[in-house]
Amino acid sequence: MTGGAAPQPVADPLHPLGPWPHRHLFDVDHLSREQLEVCLDLAVEMRERRGGDQPPGPSPGALAGQTVGLAFYEGSTRTRVSFELAAREMGATTVDLAVAGSSVGKGESLADTLRTLERTGVTTVVLRHSAAGAPYLAARMTGLRIVNGGDGAHAHPTQALLDALTLREALGGLAGKRVAIVGDVAHSRVARSNIHALTRLGASVRVGGPPAWVRGFELWPGVSVSGTLAEALRDADAVMTLRVQLERAAAGGVASLREYSSIWGLTEERMELAAPGAPLLHPGPTNEGVELTAELASSERSLIGRQVRNGVPVRMAVFSLLAP
Ligand code: CP
Repeated sequence: MTGGAAPQPVADPLHPLGPWPHRHLFDVDHLSREQLEVCLDLAVEMRERRGGDQPPGPSPGALAGQTVGLAFYEGSTRTRVSFELAAREMGATTVDLAVAGSSVGKGESLADTLRTLERTGVTTVVLRHSAAGAPYLAARMTGLRIVNGGDGAHAHPTQALLDALTLREALGGLAGKRVAIVGDVAHSRVARSNIHALTRLGASVRVGGPPAWVRGFELWPGVSVSGTLAEALRDADAVMTLRVQLERAAAGGVASLREYSSIWGLTEERMELAAPGAPLLHPGPTNEGVELTAELASSERSLIGRQVRNGVPVRMAVFSLLAP
């Protein structure tokens, strides 16, 4: 979270960090370990207020009078729906730009589209866009509060926050833990934001995948690169596999999906290489039979359902921290 001149107050006046200094959420890379922990703690509180994993409960009301716009230029189920529910539960009105049926199809630019939303009374926009950096442009071109719902291969901050929360609870903390991230790391905004969040929270990250999909990550602090799946998984405390972006696989990096799956696909048997009981994460949507088997996705190791369930409270926490 970054940008903007005036510090914004946090929702909780007794907050140990004092005023929350960020107006926007572009990525997690600017968040300190304390700020990440505060956000995760607040998400736990929000989840408890909602009545555990039950359907929506009473609104905490921090966004009363606000209108949140959902501008998703790329497809989404989890992120869009959970942001919408989070905003509504916080007392906001929501409006979905529905890009496919909007004037974007007539050639209206991103800046003009967002300015139009702003003029109609939208105060915060959750933006998903194929162009890395689009949220920074949106914040510069408008007076809107911007929350990044995923930009190109750059960042997916709320996914990283919900993954960190899911892992923190499954592992009893992240300090000193070894997390393996397997797959198309190079093109993954989820992987990049997770690397920032997990290493900031004290974990080490091992990335594994075909050479073209992991190249250069050995330069990231707290990250090592494994050339084989066995090496990536060995003694890992948790394993995250990524959606193979079928369009990218076709464009290069692996000879075929079948080859990828045979070398890097996760199975229950292969997961035995990880630490005993190591949980499995996947940001979704999954390509079962490619990056993991259907059996593994629905096995006891799988935290995929828990990741999704943490989506609404994490996004409520983010709205709460950014609230004017
Ligand atoms: N993990 C994730 O971003 O899923 P969606 O594309 O469904 O939002």
